[in-house]
Amino acid sequence: MTDQPEHLDLTSLPADKTAELLRLFPEIRTEGGQIDFDKLKLVLGQTVDVGRERYGMTWPGKAECFKTIQTPSMGTLLPVPAESVDFDTTENLIIEGDNLEALKLLQKAYLGKVKMIYIDPPYNTGNDFIYPDNYTESLQTYLEYTNQVDAEGRKFGTNSDTDGRFHSRWMNMMYPRLYLARNLLRDDGVIFINIGEEELNNLIKICDEIMGEGNRLSIISRVAKTASNKGTFFAPSVDFILCYAKNIFELQQFSDSVDEKLYKKFEVEGLRKGDQYRDDIALYQSALDTRPNQRYWIKCPDGSFVIPPGKTFPANFEDGFKTIPEKGDGVWRWTPETYFTNKSLIVFKETSTSPLINQDGKKAKYNIYTKSYLKDREENGGTLPRNILTDFINRKGADLLKKYDIEFDYSKPVELIEYLLQITGCSGNDIVLDFFAGSCTTGHSVINWNTSNSSNIRFICIQLPETIENSNFLTVADIGKERMRRVIKKIKKDDTGKFGLNSAQDRGFRVFKLAESNFKAWDASAPKDVKSLATQLELHVEHIRAGRTSEDILYEILFKSGFALTTLVEKIELTGKSVYSVASGGMLICLEKELTLESIRAMAELKPQRVVCLDLGFAGNDQLKTNAVQIFKNKEIVFKTV
Ligand SMILES: C[S@@+](CC[C@H](N)C(=O)[O-])C[C@H]1O[C@@H](n2cnc3c(N)ncnc32)[C@H](O)[C@@H]1O
Repeated sequence: MTDQPEHLDLTSLPADKTAELLRLFPEIRTEGGQIDFDKLKLVLGQTVDVGRERYGMTWPGKAECFKTIQTPSMGTLLPVPAESVDFDTTENLIIEGDNLEALKLLQKAYLGKVKMIYIDPPYNTGNDFIYPDNYTESLQTYLEYTNQVDAEGRKFGTNSDTDGRFHSRWMNMMYPRLYLARNLLRDDGVIFINIGEEELNNLIKICDEIMGEGNRLSIISRVAKTASNKGTFFAPSVDFILCYAKNIFELQQFSDSVDEKLYKKFEVEGLRKGDQYRDDIALYQSALDTRPNQRYWIKCPDGSFVIPPGKTFPANFEDGFKTIPEKGDGVWRWTPETYFTNKSLIVFKETSTSPLINQDGKKAKYNIYTKSYLKDREENGGTLPRNILTDFINRKGADLLKKYDIEFDYSKPVELIEYLLQITGCSGNDIVLDFFAGSCTTGHSVINWNTSNSSNIRFICIQLPETIENSNFLTVADIGKERMRRVIKKIKKDDTGKFGLNSAQDRGFRVFKLAESNFKAWDASAPKDVKSLATQLELHVEHIRAGRTSEDILYEILFKSGFALTTLVEKIELTGKSVYSVASGGMLICLEKELTLESIRAMAELKPQRVVCLDLGFAGNDQLKTNAVQIFKNKEIVFKTV
């Protein structure tokens, strides 16, 4: 027997435990698929020396990124009904503030709840502003940022490439945000990150580490511009969208709709009358690998036999008679079995340019195609989306905004995000998050998508109040909110008269703004001399920050207790006191400053699971507090004060 705690030898973990750790923390995977234990310790909050050589990517500031991730936010999100639409009923969110703080504040309530994330972060072109994180004083940085000067009175500037830490600064900004964002994804969730050439390679490395290389689905190329002549050796025309699953094994297959233009309208006698089909996909394609079963003769309508080009030939001139191809021999797309079962789908077309050869070794008179019916393709789940996107150029985004009387050049086209919603199969009440929201294109896309697909997908858009020059708006966040107000107004107007059609759909959003917590924090780093302690104590006599409303406090309690920011809240009166009833009475929050025994009894009578009151509510009346504890305990109600 020993009184020492049992020592867990991590180096000899069983395979299932290793797999579980790798699933939970993909970033600890080594090149050989094992666990990097130093990285694991770092992730779990221990400081380690990351200087030893090993596979992986490192840069100045990476170790600080983990501290940034682990430092809790000292902020809160203040509700702003005046800037919202349908504040009381909507479940969409626009959060104005630094997304790092916001993502931290969302961790509890939205952990594992988000189906799709789309982000379009600064590409780091040398002209973008890159947010300067400071893990010890993250919120302070934001407060300084919103006053536009730092503690030394310097203006926050762009990340310029003359700066020795050009890439590191960007990676230090991205890493913690992506890390926290991954936590919010559902197991069948997916993230898309739009990026330019400047940081593409770094972003791939960061995401491979955070999301797990095995969860990388594609690096999509998107045609962004078609008529630009800017650039040095090339005129940049594409950007990229990195796509990762939270867990590739949980993700449902992506599906694109079949392009109907490719399917000719054709009246066919008999069963398939009226079906659309295409018959322009050749049965032989030169790019096919040499497959052992797929080189055989096919008998044509004139009795001749044809085969793909090559040097090896089946011995008998018989329909479907095969040979084993050698390297360089062409093969059909189908095996003889598929060919015989689907003969009705075979189309012979006479042509002088057939790549096939006949039994005399000469150019064949026919080429062979297969017919495919639109209905069949649709029933089989459509087609796989291609990893090149050509229909979503940037200009569409800016042009659409102009229709809403807004000038903003950095807006992505709504069609792009609607397309991502489509292929990922977003539906029902799924949540979509964009934490570099800009002009709120994601919010607009979600509202459009819901309107045309009778879904009720929710959006969460987070945007910094970055100031803009030469605009009717003060900040980018103002653009996003106003755009959404105008979009919603138009959709509601367009719907007038369409009785009940989209009435159940959520056409609103709640605005929240990042600010210091409503509750003053005890400054543990302050000097411990009598005078300083006395000052701190004085500050804490009233520990609620001046000027904060009951609603401000209500929402802080709500999301710190793990409720979504969109939870429905009802204000009720009990014995003359206002009480917020949350989630149909599951939790009661009373922020009155003068509680009475009567009001406490009335709350207990409603039998909520939890009750939260202000400490201040007991106004130093210890007896009342003791009674309250007992009353709630008797009814098995969890009781907390703040
Ligand atoms: C390229 S724009 C996004 C444009 C957006 N996709 C659209 O369609 O309008 C990137 C945005 O991220 C914002 N941003 C940068 N750092 C941020 C941060 N720390 N928190 C929140 N937003 C940030 C910038 O203000 C900028 O507007």
